[in-house]
Amino acid sequence: MKVRRCTSVFFEPRESSRFDLGSLLSGGNGVMRERCWVALAPHLDGELRVSEEDVLATGRYSPEEWTVLDEPVDEVLLRLLACGLLIADAEVHGAHCLADERYRGLHWWPLAAVTQQAARWNAVDSVESMQRLGTDTVAGLLRSYGAPPSATLERKGVGADVPLMRAETSELDALMERRVTCRNFDSERPLEQALFAQMLQRVFSANGSIAQSEGVEFLKKYTPSGGGLHATEAYLVVQRVEGIDPGLYHYRPKDHALRPLSPPTLPLAEFACEAMAGQHWFAQAPVLVIYAPRITRSHWKYRNHPKAYRALMLDVGHLSQTLYLSATDLGLGAFVTAAINEVQIEQAFGLPALEEGPFAVGGFGWRALTQEIAEFDPMGSVW
Ligand SMILES: Cc1cc2nc3c(=O)[nH]c(=O)nc-3n(C[C@H](O)[C@H](O)[C@H](O)COP(=O)(O)O)c2cc1C
Repeated sequence: MKVRRCTSVFFEPRESSRFDLGSLLSGGNGVMRERCWVALAPHLDGELRVSEEDVLATGRYSPEEWTVLDEPVDEVLLRLLACGLLIADAEVHGAHCLADERYRGLHWWPLAAVTQQAARWNAVDSVESMQRLGTDTVAGLLRSYGAPPSATLERKGVGADVPLMRAETSELDALMERRVTCRNFDSERPLEQALFAQMLQRVFSANGSIAQSEGVEFLKKYTPSGGGLHATEAYLVVQRVEGIDPGLYHYRPKDHALRPLSPPTLPLAEFACEAMAGQHWFAQAPVLVIYAPRITRSHWKYRNHPKAYRALMLDVGHLSQTLYLSATDLGLGAFVTAAINEVQIEQAFGLPALEEGPFAVGGFGWRALTQEIAEFDPMGSVW
């Protein structure tokens, strides 16, 4: 049998602590600390606890060159082959080999791949967990963490400050001032189809395109995009739009059309709440937009590139601001959040995590008549 190491793996020495009555009764501080090694390998679905022996043994193999193993194979190697840190050419370990080949072909910068994989939430209720930790209010945050760094920064300068003139405000200023993250959507009022279509046209449609050469096409949109690649796809959860069946859709930017997708296994409203990690104030929006970059389009140009992931995140941020401003202009509320259950969204839309995994979710629709959940509107621009 021939083996090699998997393409990317990082080993983290991790310490966890737990309450231990035995320690307390024997005069200790009641805290039991445990140290272990954790392997973070993006071609695997989750992290793995490994031994020190496993760490050293993995490091002995090249990820490029196959090594012929002497038979019989020892226990450590068998364990590493079974968990996928070592890759064998034998069919019995074929699934790990395929997963690693697939990952290798995606051209991730390894640290970004680990981040993308490890930051995913699976059925997390972020609201419940913040309540449990007492970090759902400013008072609770203060109690737990003390005061934050100041709202503005005082740098030591090399001369007197240069005061700047204040410009007359324009319609653009007025629009930007009215932009307030909406946490109170009208749970009954449907969104008119014309407004829905206009929102998608402004934020996601291609206004033009050029085919630079065979198979190389660049789209032009209202929002900038790293490398001009516009890798971010918009997947929609349509809950209340006049004339459009509630369900999951993919937006087609050149045709300005929706492609219906299979429904989620849960009822739509329940799926929306789970996707939003329990943030019911967002889940109620008539339209949710999943921002899911196509990694392969970005990595076509930015191959194994340390800035590619950052550029994709910036792309999503830019799109989100276009969505916010467009919604505000049309009198609608809008939001964005990264506190999402990526795993449930990936399952519902069929998005492989390292190829098309979601980065954030936004949404828009009519505001409710009253503000039940706090919004940040100190100038009273909306409420
Ligand atoms: C990247 C990003 C993530 C956010 N995530 C959440 C979130 O998980 N939950 C939430 O209620 N608001 C979220 N927000 C909204 C912010 O809380 C909000 O922008 C901030 O409080 C300022 O209020 P404003 O947008 O009305 O100016 C997020 C905003 C951004 C830009």
